[in-house]
Amino acid sequence: MIAFLNGDYRPLESVCISPLDRGFLFGDGVYEVIPSYRGVLFEADAHLERLRRSLAAVRIADPLEGAAWRAMLERLLSLNPGGDRAIYLQVTRGVAAREHAFPETAAATVFAMVNPIRSPEPELAERGVAAITLPDQRWGRCDIKAVTLLPNVLARQQAAEQGAVEAILLRNGQVTEGAASNVFVVRDGRVQTPPLNDAILPGITRRVLIDVLRDTARACVEQPIGEDQLRAADEIWLTSSTKELLPVTRLDGRAVGDGCPGPVWREALAAYQSAKP
Ligand code: PDD
Repeated sequence: MIAFLNGDYRPLESVCISPLDRGFLFGDGVYEVIPSYRGVLFEADAHLERLRRSLAAVRIADPLEGAAWRAMLERLLSLNPGGDRAIYLQVTRGVAAREHAFPETAAATVFAMVNPIRSPEPELAERGVAAITLPDQRWGRCDIKAVTLLPNVLARQQAAEQGAVEAILLRNGQVTEGAASNVFVVRDGRVQTPPLNDAILPGITRRVLIDVLRDTARACVEQPIGEDQLRAADEIWLTSSTKELLPVTRLDGRAVGDGCPGPVWREALAAYQSAKP
């Protein structure tokens, strides 16, 4: 696999990053995961816009010009031809002697690699997946796509140890999001997802889904979801660039609705698939 580091394209095995990189020492960086289908990027502009927003929020100067980002992504895809891929793209504050405050001079480190998108196995989508709920122990700026993911890692691991694919996080009695996904619920045919604020990542898949649902009879309302609403939902869905739209059929060991992926999920998935390249 060919990866990108600071202007060079080279085999991933030969990419070296300094142990003094602030991404390694402090988790001082931001990232994106950008899907592509048969060589065509999906929603690249939205991902790059969110990257710019994350960079500005953590005060890392944007290291590339607008069109250069896109050109780099396209080149990386062409160097890694094949099926459906997700580009992982990370920008850190760069290499400097270890000191918490920003270094006076350090060039941002830009790294990107390509991974296959493992679409959920058809049987998994047919059966749905299990999720657990956990308290949201993250910081107050979850709208920034920061590489500092320890609480997310711990939550996802706890889910995995309990045979679940995701942890749905609760803060002050309300659903925020999954450890690496946004959350939707359906009750009596009505689709709902928490509104954007600093407690959740503004997911691109979330936004695409809201857009495609607007054109159907299932317009989504963006309103807080209480824990009781989550537990009473007929359907629960998870969205992300790599998972797309996954139905949760067991929550904390109990069936969600009738325990099978629901009819509204099927409609929504069809609408989402039609938006993909
Ligand atoms: N994560 N919320 C969190 C905390 C996430 O980490 C992600 C995605 C999402 C969904 O965002 P999007 O639809 O833009 O992918 C929501 C990526 C896929 C990851 O960390 O691998």
